[in-house]
Amino acid sequence: MVSGEYEKDTKGFSVLELIATMDRTKESTSQFESRKSDHLEVAMDPRVQAVEGLGAEFDRLQFVHEALPDLDLADVSLMVDSSQAIRTASLSSSPFFVSSMTAGHEAGAVLNRRLAAACAARGWLMGVGSQRRELFDSASAAEWREIRARTPDVSLIGNIGLSQLIDSGTEKILGLVEALEAVAMIVHLNPLQECLQVEGTPQFRGGLHAIHALVERAKVPIIVKETGCGISGTTARRLIGAGVAVIDVAGRGGTHWGRIEGLRAAKVSAGSQLSRAAESFQNWGLSTVDSLTQVVHAGRETGVEIWASGGIRSGLDAAKAIRLGAARVGVAQPFLAAALNGEDELSRAMDRFEFELKVAMFCVGASTLSELRRAPLTEVERGSEILRSRLQIGRVFRSCRERIALTILKRLGR
Ligand SMILES: Cc1cc2nc3c(=O)[nH]c(=O)nc-3n(C[C@H](O)[C@H](O)[C@H](O)COP(=O)(O)O)c2cc1C
Repeated sequence: MVSGEYEKDTKGFSVLELIATMDRTKESTSQFESRKSDHLEVAMDPRVQAVEGLGAEFDRLQFVHEALPDLDLADVSLMVDSSQAIRTASLSSSPFFVSSMTAGHEAGAVLNRRLAAACAARGWLMGVGSQRRELFDSASAAEWREIRARTPDVSLIGNIGLSQLIDSGTEKILGLVEALEAVAMIVHLNPLQECLQVEGTPQFRGGLHAIHALVERAKVPIIVKETGCGISGTTARRLIGAGVAVIDVAGRGGTHWGRIEGLRAAKVSAGSQLSRAAESFQNWGLSTVDSLTQVVHAGRETGVEIWASGGIRSGLDAAKAIRLGAARVGVAQPFLAAALNGEDELSRAMDRFEFELKVAMFCVGASTLSELRRAPLTEVERGSEILRSRLQIGRVFRSCRERIALTILKRLGR
């Protein structure tokens, strides 16, 4: 438990205090409350973050510095347009969004109010956490009425896990969209977490069909995301075939759900099968850079929009993700940590991401996100030719990457 590391401000409180505000009687009778409060607590433990060398891989990429940008920093605009956000440009003009985290429990409601107010003030999209509880307790949707009353302008994205979509069916999920007044709906994929979670539901059979059925009926864009293990090019093609509007890669590099569930399982019973399996899988997943490269390639010319999240820890990471083809960039754990410390800290954290993205754009001479997408980017140890090949063919193993990449580029006539 690391709550002591978090400074309080006048409106902030630590994780422990937050959870202490909850109704403990209710918590003891509700597996749901206890699981969600566990997640908030464990997500603040540094051990659940990806380790160096097995992270998002943004550090392997470097922009070519432009010493003579023909613009002022004040000219740099972060507005997305329909050339990037081909399916969601009308939903918000900022490329940033807060990734889905919490919903349907007492501690989460306070955090969601803070996140919603901050997102509304900046025009960011906000993903809410899984709305699973609303499927069996419709009263829990009251959280959204309160948020709507306080921040009518916030654009919220709904969220449900694939196994709940399969289990509950399209109609119920459309009800969640309505209750939230969501501008889009996320279906999250989390096979590893479902296997390692004590309360997990690793039942994904019929998942693609269920996604397709939801896409067919929904009036809002359907987004499919992972939760920190990434999506491969092959899986992206299946999702594109099912008609999804957006794929958010949510790759490895930040919060790792194998690690979170591993810590939870160890608390219940150290050395149990689940906690030992979680150790084996603690570095599982495709890095965000790798996943993004594959999914962008798969999505080319298909009309699907690609988002990046998972281990985005600075505005510079965001700039690299946009350069690789992401229309929007999401951040989860850093904003949760900031929100736990109060509105001011959350505001500072969000400002930092926007400022750093602008600095990156200025220092490559890009005044718009479209220009940023054309900025030269190199792989630190190998040079720009290899980056170009990564964009074309996705991941090629390091040792033979150069040879294979050049051969493929030759075949493609590029
Ligand atoms: C406390 C917490 C709760 C989360 N709950 C959800 C969820 O309900 N649904 C979902 O799609 N992702 C959920 N996530 C995953 C995030 O949306 C994100 O994909 C992941 O944390 C990687 O981003 P990060 O490295 O910036 O934290 C959660 C993350 C955290 C930290």
